[in-house]
Amino acid sequence: MTAKVLVTGGAGYIGSHACKALAKSGFTPVTFDNLSFGHRRAVRWGPLVEGDLADESLIRRTIRAHRIEAVLHFAAFAYVGESMSEPGRYFQNNISNSISLLNAAQQENVPHVVFSSSCATYGLPHTATIDETHPQQPINPYGETKLAIERTLHWYGCAHNMRYVALRYFNAAGADADGEIGESHDPETHLIPLIIDAAMGRGPAVSIFGTNYPTADGTAIRDYVHVADLARAHVDALRYLRRGGTSAWANLGTGRGHSVREVISMVEAVSGRTVPVIETTRRAGDPPSLVAASGRARELFGWTPQCSDLRTIVSTAWEWRVRQNASQLAAVSAA
Ligand code: UFG
Repeated sequence: MTAKVLVTGGAGYIGSHACKALAKSGFTPVTFDNLSFGHRRAVRWGPLVEGDLADESLIRRTIRAHRIEAVLHFAAFAYVGESMSEPGRYFQNNISNSISLLNAAQQENVPHVVFSSSCATYGLPHTATIDETHPQQPINPYGETKLAIERTLHWYGCAHNMRYVALRYFNAAGADADGEIGESHDPETHLIPLIIDAAMGRGPAVSIFGTNYPTADGTAIRDYVHVADLARAHVDALRYLRRGGTSAWANLGTGRGHSVREVISMVEAVSGRTVPVIETTRRAGDPPSLVAASGRARELFGWTPQCSDLRTIVSTAWEWRVRQNASQLAAVSAA
């Protein structure tokens, strides 16, 4: 019998890609999602339990009913800007709900947790690339909530029979190479989908937030990592825990940064279209550059990015958007 894994947020962007990776690797993902941001159609590789993480008793019943052996915890609010204006919602949802999940897991003797953390736990970088020894000083409530759960996991690990891996993602991007799932946020705030929509004429011109950063072309630099590489890292981390690995934390990035202008140029190269842009001021809370050193994920469980070159990221994101548009048009003409 295959091991069953509870995937909170399994109907979301990264969670659904992780479910596909789990299924491919012989696990059965059981998605736990309230569908507030996730999509029912993205749950394709195992059952969906529609529920809220605040409902500890439902989590416990789900763990028992499905004989869950591990938890992958993705569900969280993840808009950095919104977290600045509505911190209470972020602390309530991200921290309080995570604690109810961990309590349920502990009471039902689930020994392994893989947690979606973030490079936002580091705050402003002190070094050109950020490794796991970099101080964690978040500059927004979103990062603060992720750090709080990392610390909570540490203490649960000390007190209970629970081991964990916290994965600190840099910028998740791209879509499933088979075109089955992709990025679909509402509202969409992420750079690559916004550029693609602008190139397709389905959205407004892209605003470049800041052109006077201390970078080669003046625009901000991020480390874009393909969502399929992130998904695979969760399977690798789970296997690491199942073979007895100790609790750990690791960055997931490529070690290469790309500026906003470079990303726009790549969308133009992949699509053959011109992207309309508007140069505007910096977005509050945005560091000039965030680039990972991901050596620890390689050392711990052999992870290296395999499809995170910028062309593959943009091509898969473009293909996904083209398919989505086609299916929306088909739905309209069938109606
Ligand atoms: N950007 C623009 N114009 C836009 C949108 C973004 O110029 O319309 C720029 C941003 O200023 C930033 C880069 O493009 O420099 C990437 O922005 P995203 O909004 O795509 O991603 P972020 O780097 O802000 O956020 C991501 C994740 C968060 C995570 C954060 C950690 O979405 O969940 O990385 O820094 F917390």
